[in-house]
Amino acid sequence: MKKNNYKILLIGGSGQVGTEVRFFLDKKDFEILSPSSKDFNLSYAEDLFKQITSSDIDVVVNLAGFTKVDEAEKYYDLVHEINCLSAQYIAQATSKLNIPLIHFSTDYVFDGKKDGLYNETAEAKPINIYGKSKLCSERIIKVHNDKVVIIRTSGVYGSYGKNFFKTIKSLLEKNQEIKVISNQFTCPTWSYDIAVMLEKVLKKVLKSDFSNWGVYNFCGEDCISWYEFSEKIQKIFSLGGSLFPIYESNYESLASRPLNSCLDCKKILNVFGVKTQSLDSSLKQLKAINSKT
Ligand SMILES: NC(=O)c1ccc[n+]([C@@H]2O[C@H](COP(=O)([O-])OP(=O)(O)OC[C@H]3O[C@@H](n4cnc5c(N)ncnc54)[C@H](OP(=O)(O)O)[C@@H]3O)[C@@H](O)[C@H]2O)c1
Repeated sequence: MKKNNYKILLIGGSGQVGTEVRFFLDKKDFEILSPSSKDFNLSYAEDLFKQITSSDIDVVVNLAGFTKVDEAEKYYDLVHEINCLSAQYIAQATSKLNIPLIHFSTDYVFDGKKDGLYNETAEAKPINIYGKSKLCSERIIKVHNDKVVIIRTSGVYGSYGKNFFKTIKSLLEKNQEIKVISNQFTCPTWSYDIAVMLEKVLKKVLKSDFSNWGVYNFCGEDCISWYEFSEKIQKIFSLGGSLFPIYESNYESLASRPLNSCLDCKKILNVFGVKTQSLDSSLKQLKAINSKT
């Protein structure tokens, strides 16, 4: 290992996960380059190649993307360009520099028809444009760089950006009545846990003898419905308001979503020693952080 700090190019550093990662890794032994989406625009894919290959970075972490699942249904070409085509150029550039690429993907690569948890070898069969574009990115980067770690995560929530947790909490704080889908199951994942996991992954992939490249799942421990997730938010944050369960078939949305996209995280534990934690535990920690700010 080099003695000095490793230099990370963090793409998508202004997003929900990116902000958490930036704040967390800044305090660690890494130098972070986090260009804005204006300076590093995924729509100008060929420029990305030049920007990366002319830099002296040690690793790229790609957290950027078109992540609005419903809106993605209306903009197939743009979503494909931002989520998939750009990933090809990023993979080609990192390969030219002979450096690793850590790329984030989603549980929405699955169709949700399986009983139980999806592991990394389960068949991916996305049912919406966003999921298709992310699967496309996974496949394309593996073709162009041998040193790729793809991390599929799900139901991200936390202090930054727009997310389910913040929306529900804010509505319950206003004592609202909310209908929440009770037959779609996912593993909610705290963005802070992603940052902790990423540090461990980075430390390993930056060692010259690392060879376990490939796809990894990472999410929180509980496989629950969005309705149950909101009940936990209500309970742990001692909030008023009222929650009512509804089926997804009674909820209008542009994109179809998998009914079950819960992920099995044994592989990341075995290879990187990364543990997942329960939703109760992470929500309680988040509450403690919120009460200090
Ligand atoms: N959030 C979830 O529940 C979830 C679940 C599963 C997987 N994931 C995956 O986790 C990763 C991070 O998600 P997130 O929730 O942090 O996403 P996010 O909050 O939507 O952030 C997206 C990031 O991508 C950047 N971006 C968007 N379009 C761009 C473009 N054309 N050029 C350059 N940058 C662009 C945004 O920059 P601006 O801020 O400037 O727009 C922002 O930094 C993504 O790969 C996502 O697919 C997320």
